[in-house]
Amino acid sequence: MEKKRRVLSGMQASGRLHLGNLLGALTKWKELQDGYECFYFIADWHALSTCYEDTHEIKGNAFEIAVDWLSVGIDPEKSTIFIQSLVPEHAVLHLLLSMITPVSWLERNPTYKEKQEEIKNRDLTTYGFLGYPVLQTADIVLYKADCVPVGIDQLPHLELTREIVRRFNYIYKKDVFVEPEAILSETPKLPGTDGRKMSKSYNNAIYLSDPPDEIEKKVRSMLTDPQRGRRTDPGNPEICPVFALHNIYPPSSSQVESQRISQESIDSPAIDISEISDQCRTAKIGCVDCKMILVRNIIKKMQPLYERRCELKANPERIYEILTQGSKKARKIAIATLKEASEAMKIG
Ligand code: TRP
Ligand code: SF4
Repeated sequence: MEKKRRVLSGMQASGRLHLGNLLGALTKWKELQDGYECFYFIADWHALSTCYEDTHEIKGNAFEIAVDWLSVGIDPEKSTIFIQSLVPEHAVLHLLLSMITPVSWLERNPTYKEKQEEIKNRDLTTYGFLGYPVLQTADIVLYKADCVPVGIDQLPHLELTREIVRRFNYIYKKDVFVEPEAILSETPKLPGTDGRKMSKSYNNAIYLSDPPDEIEKKVRSMLTDPQRGRRTDPGNPEICPVFALHNIYPPSSSQVESQRISQESIDSPAIDISEISDQCRTAKIGCVDCKMILVRNIIKKMQPLYERRCELKANPERIYEILTQGSKKARKIAIATLKEASEAMKIG
């Protein structure tokens, strides 16, 4: 049988995961598990690059992210799931690669500049923050990953990884490392409760760990078409974030059918997307009812996942065991690659 290609990806341990992470990265990761040999890790050291002063949440976040992954079906039987700091070879290779990486490559990294513009309340002038992509390169090349599923924002980082790989292999005259290619995961346009892109830093996200009543609270608080001040004002679903979420969490056709049969009255709520849209435009449905339809549909999708999450959390030892075993397995590979690299450099 042909050897499976290797996939590696990671997430920074800087918060719990939300619906955007699920629909973007995690769905892709889950899919890849069957065709590739997958390594998924929690980048707890990367979290330090922006939060080095306030580290108390990193460990807890790493645990919660592991629970999130397992609850959506990242399967430790298929994939190696591990923690960056349990494989110290990441730090050693980061050091070696830092010796050959020109500072100018890091300074022109667009993410570096953008984040410095964007995040004003934290100190991003550190060496660690500048070297973020070097650590990320170590993460990837230690496993000789062929493919790295990432969002579009990570492409400049991956390009840097490829450049560092070429430079290393060229200087030390041995093809120790593999140039990885990106597998771009489409990030759906998913608005948060305030209509901006769903993101933990905007405080507008619905989390995988939110219980149903929290989902209801958040959806009820969502912004709608601002023109619909009164119940009798017609609305425009195209500019309403609630409607954008209806498109992503539409009523299933069986739901629509059963509601049609059971509710023949004229006042029955809108039950499919085009009906919701029409009824919004003609002010036949109020925003509160419209939101409650969305609440039901999101909860219907998320409930099984939430229940699995609760079961997993009830047995934290099992989670730690999965992470420890995964890290042991990853470490074996990391040690072997690091040895090869040190030998090529004639220091090993
Ligand atoms: N920088 C990535 C992010 O913020 C996380 C990450 C760290 C990563 N190391 C990686 C992703 C290696 C892919 C491969 O999402
Ligand atoms: Fe938005 Fe629904 Fe209100 Fe229309 S009825 S403005 S789609 S919440």
